[in-house]
Amino acid sequence: MPTPWDTILSYARRYPSPHNTQPIKLRIDGLSAEIFYDLDLGLPAGDAYGIPFGSVAAGIFIETVSIAAHSLGYSVAERLDFTPMDFTSGDRLHPLGVLTLEPSAEPIDDLAPDLLLSRRTSRLRYEQRPVPPAVMDEARRMAGNYDQTLAGTSERRLVDEVIAVNQRTLFYDLEKPAMREEIQGYLRYSERQARTPGDGLSARCLGLPGPLLRVIMGNYWVWKIPVLSAGLKQIYLRSMRGVAHVAWMKGPFANERDYTVAGRAFLRVWLLLSSHGLYLHPFGSVITNPRSHRELVAAVGEDEGTDMIWMLFRVGYSAQPPESHRRELRELVLG
Ligand SMILES: Cc1cc2nc3c(=O)[nH]c(=O)nc-3n(C[C@H](O)[C@H](O)[C@H](O)COP(=O)(O)O)c2cc1C
Repeated sequence: MPTPWDTILSYARRYPSPHNTQPIKLRIDGLSAEIFYDLDLGLPAGDAYGIPFGSVAAGIFIETVSIAAHSLGYSVAERLDFTPMDFTSGDRLHPLGVLTLEPSAEPIDDLAPDLLLSRRTSRLRYEQRPVPPAVMDEARRMAGNYDQTLAGTSERRLVDEVIAVNQRTLFYDLEKPAMREEIQGYLRYSERQARTPGDGLSARCLGLPGPLLRVIMGNYWVWKIPVLSAGLKQIYLRSMRGVAHVAWMKGPFANERDYTVAGRAFLRVWLLLSSHGLYLHPFGSVITNPRSHRELVAAVGEDEGTDMIWMLFRVGYSAQPPESHRRELRELVLG
């Protein structure tokens, strides 16, 4: 017999996660689901914030479930476990808590669940068209509901500087063997290679020819040859044409509860911007790389006291980007 979880997960499986690793697993029992973070699908190599981004992904997933559940007339009672993840643990399923669907007497007003299916990362060139200030204001209010500040700029010099920081980040990350290995583990050089596991970053979604991606990722020394690294930089900058606006989110980011709330806020902001026909491209690696993070904070002139900039993205209009792969539903649900 189909259960509400079948419908909810048909939406929730499209949740975005760093490198598209899709780390959340569920064990369903009636209207309740225990949720877990599969540590084997985590990205702990990102120096300072690789592990916190795991909880951000959990927050994104939980919020995705709640939006889908609301559309079916269920509220979601949450009993969340904020124990920090231990990536050395022998038990590879880190418990995140229990979500229980509760039928609601009244319809629950929320974002349209179809946005969960249509939302996509766009790494294409953008159309230079400005992002309407009223839309950013709406997104700012949405972020504010979660105690988060959404800030951004359309100032050309600053937009270009942020794009340059993101470009340098790839070079910084690839300098580190652990990061290199982590990224390589999730690169899919052909559609055939991407389809079967149904995860990872496909060449198609990255907007690069698979063979070129394979050559540059498999031969790190290529990056060191000035003429080639200049060529790669040009390829990157070409994909960044037309970017008129970059934005960042800032808020409490000190423990698992904060990271989870941050993820929830990010998903809602992303969906809201999608509902206005806008696309996003998160620059999460600028956050996880400490050197890039410092460069970002200096560039945008933000003061990080108790609050931290924990997300950065470009936002704008583009052609419809390719759809990323997902694992089969049966791989999300534990027996
Ligand atoms: C917390 C977070 C950080 C991310 N950071 C990056 C990033 O640094 N670079 C990038 O190209 N994509 C980044 N992404 C986008 C994911 O790779 C993308 O969501 C995933 O591949 C699934 O694709 P989709 O968003 O089109 O469904 C990030 C996503 C999340 C949720």
